[in-house]
Amino acid sequence: MTTFYRALILIAFVLAAPSAFAADLPADMMLSAPDGWEARRPAVPFSHTLHDRLNPGQCATCHHEWDGSGQPASCSSSGCHDQQGRREARSFYRAFHDRSDQRSCVGCHSTARRAGSTDIPVSCGDCHVRN
Ligand code: HEC
Ligand code: HEC
Ligand code: HEC
Repeated sequence: MTTFYRALILIAFVLAAPSAFAADLPADMMLSAPDGWEARRPAVPFSHTLHDRLNPGQCATCHHEWDGSGQPASCSSSGCHDQQGRREARSFYRAFHDRSDQRSCVGCHSTARRAGSTDIPVSCGDCHVRN
């Protein structure tokens, strides 16, 4: 293969990268407590499509330890938010409910609520929806 064709192929890959990346955005999912834990609340629906539309490409807002390659680690990975209580430094609960942390669901949503978003979920039953 000539150097010219090698360069063309390389350019094609670089141009294809953004669409490959967009395809990595997961489908809507249900978030639940880690396997083996007793869940006290129903699972929470979460849309990557909606949240990415708000801040396109800003994956690190939530995946704050991810270097951008491969799969981001799950929130409850060992050494991350892997503790069952509500107050520990690595509390799973706090990862999603810490009002003073904009990376947490409730933190960011409460800020948006204060800024005037009236129908953004902030109460327990808005996120932990019972069927
Ligand atoms: C508003 C918060 C938020 C943003 C922004 C976000 N994610 Fe996520 N993402 C999550 C949560 C929460 C999970 C579930 C993690 C878990 O299971 O512990 C997740 C899981 C994932 C997974 C694993 C999917 C699976 O099926 O297990 C991938 C891949 C992923 N995100 C990619 C991305 C990419 C790429 C972006 C940016 C374009 C992004 N995320 C932006 C919150 C977010
Ligand atoms: C950095 C800010 C931010 C973070 C972090 C965030 N959200 Fe949101 N979320 C928003 C905003 C802003 C809206 C309102 C979007 C609108 O009204 O168009 C929203 C809307 C929603 C909605 C209502 C829309 C729908 O799909 O029905 C749900 C549910 C939701 N978020 C769940 C979550 C969960 C669960 C997490 C944590 C895993 C999370 N969000 C983290 C900013 C955030
Ligand atoms: C903005 C969305 C949101 C709101 C509002 C919210 N949660 Fe959560 N909560 C989550 C997410 C996401 C998780 C992680 C997934 C899971 O375990 O369901 C979680 C996990 C939990 C857990 C640990 C897992 C379990 O089921 O035992 C408890 C307990 C909990 N939430 C209680 C509450 C209570 C009580 C409230 C109201 C004071 C509340 N949540 C409000 C999103 C939310």
